[in-house]
Amino acid sequence: MSQNVLIQLDGVAKSFRLSDGTARMVLDNVDFRLHDGEIVALLGKSGSGKSTLLRIMAGLIPADSGNIRYRGNPIYGPAAGIAMVFQSFALFPWLTVQQNVELGLEAQGVPIAEREKRADAVLELIGLSGFGGALPRELSGGMKQRVGIARALVTNPDVLLMDEAFSALDVLTGETLRDDMLELWDGQLIPTKGILIVSHNIEEAVMMADRILFLSSDPGRVRCEVRVDLPRPRNVDSQEVRALIDEVYALMTMRAVQEVVVGVAAAIPIAYRLPETDISRIEGVLDLLADEQFDGRADLPQLSEETELPDEELFPAYEALALLGLAFLDKGDISLTPLGRRYVEASQSVKKAIFGEQLLACVPLAAHIRHSLESDVTGALSEKPFLELLKESLEADEAGRVLEVAVEWGRYGEIYEYDFHTGRLTLPEKEEE
Ligand SMILES: Nc1ncnc2c1ncn2[C@@H]1O[C@H](COP(=O)(O)OP(=O)(O)OP(=O)(O)O)[C@@H](O)[C@H]1O
Ligand SMILES: [Mg+2]
Repeated sequence: MSQNVLIQLDGVAKSFRLSDGTARMVLDNVDFRLHDGEIVALLGKSGSGKSTLLRIMAGLIPADSGNIRYRGNPIYGPAAGIAMVFQSFALFPWLTVQQNVELGLEAQGVPIAEREKRADAVLELIGLSGFGGALPRELSGGMKQRVGIARALVTNPDVLLMDEAFSALDVLTGETLRDDMLELWDGQLIPTKGILIVSHNIEEAVMMADRILFLSSDPGRVRCEVRVDLPRPRNVDSQEVRALIDEVYALMTMRAVQEVVVGVAAAIPIAYRLPETDISRIEGVLDLLADEQFDGRADLPQLSEETELPDEELFPAYEALALLGLAFLDKGDISLTPLGRRYVEASQSVKKAIFGEQLLACVPLAAHIRHSLESDVTGALSEKPFLELLKESLEADEAGRVLEVAVEWGRYGEIYEYDFHTGRLTLPEKEEE
């Protein structure tokens, strides 16, 4: 691989202003290189700043500080040569497929006749010949994203940035499109010299990338990298690929859950982004783990396969389990703790009691709500002050989401009640008697 650097980021930082006027740092001191000839995958938790980083590279938003260069030149705005594919396809519904694809060329001042020719060629390349006259709504999700990719490729981009380009598609469609992209890349059917993909999907990263980077959260920073020195096309069932997937899982979970594995109160901050997951999903994973097939310990990729659930749904459940001390994660495995074992075997009311106790011990926000209610003479409080507290370190949406999780969990563990009409939190009835 040539060491020519396509994109170079040094010390990049970015903050967003919160609704109360304070700033929240999303990216801090990010260094990154995309070299000529490589595909790099960027993994990271939701909200860690992956899309923000991509938008900065695409010149769509400015960084607050740091250096961003494309082939040695500073990036000030959208650069010809860098194209982006979005998860949401971002097609214009009133334009035909052909018109959507030509859009990028129009902006570059390419004459009509050539625009048509190039759009035709790229539609053919991506498997959409004959669909030029169709409107986006007439297409399936997979075909829409083919249009999104065609629109990026028609400009003959030097660098392609793909933000979860396959994740809105069903598994099979996503995999087919991924493999088609790799064929274009490996067969050198496109002039693109470097690809950066953002993904939630570990298998996708291992199947596609030459290097996998991890972005940590709060603030986002490139934490570590794994090289994938396997020739493509890769066989998803081969031992090498499975071993790498295991390794990446291990790294992901180690980081995601390291700080909470300890399972002691105050190990996490009050505004910790609680994982967004249903109680039923948490208990489902626990039950499966306890199942004789796994007998208390499972390999994470195996569990993914067994549940047929995407990682972005399973990871929050793992994190919740680790947070509550019901399971622990170690090198790509998840194991029941003795408490987790007791939980699985307990009756519904004992389950709730354990859940509540663990919340008070391990989730500072839940403990804070409970203690505030206990110290209030009426035993009832509006949710507002808790929301305000969270907004000191989180964006409004995030704060609301985190409080929602704390409320749902607290209600389940019966450490407080919540009235959805009034937004008031109260101590549970029976304890007031
Ligand atoms: N324009 C904005 N104004 C304020 N906050 C923003 C803005 N854009 C992003 N953020 C915040 O910055 C953080 C990072 O967002 P970003 O979309 O980059 O994360 P991400 O890693 O792409 O997440 P996901 O995996 O969910 O796509 C989030 O907390 C988000 O709410
Ligand atoms: Mg994103």
